[in-house]
Amino acid sequence: MKRSLIVLMVLLTGLSGFSQKFEGLAPTPPMGWNSWNKFACDVNEKMLMEVADAMVANGMRDAGYEYIVVDDCWHGERDSLGFIQASPEHFPNGIKALTDYIHSKGLKFGIYSCAGNTTCAGKPASRGHQYQDALQYAKWGVDYLKYDWCDTEGLNAEAAYTTMRDALYAAGRPIVFSLCEWGDNDPWKWGANVGHLWRTTGDIYDCFDCEVNHGTWSSWGVMKILDMQDGLRQYAGPDHWNDPDMMEVGNGGMTQNEDRAHFSMWCMIAAPLIAGNDVRDMSKETLEILTNQDAIAVNQDKLGIQGFKFAEKDSLETWFKPLEDGDWAVCFLNRSSKVANVDFDWNTKVYDELSKRDLNAGETVYSLFNVWTKKNEGTTKKAINAKIPSHDVLMLRISSM
Ligand code: GLA
Repeated sequence: MKRSLIVLMVLLTGLSGFSQKFEGLAPTPPMGWNSWNKFACDVNEKMLMEVADAMVANGMRDAGYEYIVVDDCWHGERDSLGFIQASPEHFPNGIKALTDYIHSKGLKFGIYSCAGNTTCAGKPASRGHQYQDALQYAKWGVDYLKYDWCDTEGLNAEAAYTTMRDALYAAGRPIVFSLCEWGDNDPWKWGANVGHLWRTTGDIYDCFDCEVNHGTWSSWGVMKILDMQDGLRQYAGPDHWNDPDMMEVGNGGMTQNEDRAHFSMWCMIAAPLIAGNDVRDMSKETLEILTNQDAIAVNQDKLGIQGFKFAEKDSLETWFKPLEDGDWAVCFLNRSSKVANVDFDWNTKVYDELSKRDLNAGETVYSLFNVWTKKNEGTTKKAINAKIPSHDVLMLRISSM
């Protein structure tokens, strides 16, 4: 009886043209680079090839940054059969040549489209052309698709993103599917079946804690975006991540301390680490932030548990993230404009409902490793006492001894 039921289900699945997302493409949060935050519509093949060269030469690739994603405005017109083409002016050799080049550097290539008729910058988007576009991306060797939500009046978000998911699956090439729907229709509730990551908010802005009002929509500083992640951590995990948007590290709107705090928090909340600065021309300090292996290890931890805010007092926040092998990441974030004093007693009860993990530092002794200074800060036998500059962090990895 049981067996015949299984056979029947398999048959029915086959008949219904079973479709799904490509599983297993993002076991840890995707890492890469995207053109939008720095270059907006000013994209071309030469710049993207130089970005690939730079990411190899400066160690970003080896630190884990894998995808080079061209955002809006790479598009030209559709051909007479409706197949999308790159702008011949900015991509004279076409996308396939660019993808081949990026692959030859040991990197992967991502592209951008939108569920509506036009992209957010008014270029041809995928509505009515989903299967054709997916086929074209597959033929070009694309590895990642960011799919936006402009000009989508009358569309149901889950259905529209599922159509593109199915189109990608039908085209046969495994492609990471990044849903860029800004959190408008609670993508965390349905996104895990559809894609590998979903934007949770409107666009990021290169400032620590501002809101920039554009009339009908706003863009947000990194602290504002961080606050909007509240209540979402249970939806994230391997292959399905909350995406608080691409990073602004190195784009000049924030101080070095703020960039470090931004990067640290994106690591703590298991955010996709998509750099958004000009990696061909950045300071040593910016590169050090982006390639801090210990911070990246917190982000890329195999358990894939999004960190949580444990406490908040006088603009000082204490965050925890359970890690593999019984380790934890701990991050004290100073949001105030003054130096903050941290004084944390490790006997404090820290229990994570989601992972059912108990820090239990009253009994288990942990060693404290400072992720940014690389110094050992003693053990949990003694309360930690430290000063944190304004808009900066003290980030530790703690391991039981
Ligand atoms: C939207 C997205 C951005 C970017 C632009 C491109 O605003 O949220 O990340 O892709 O469109 O036009």
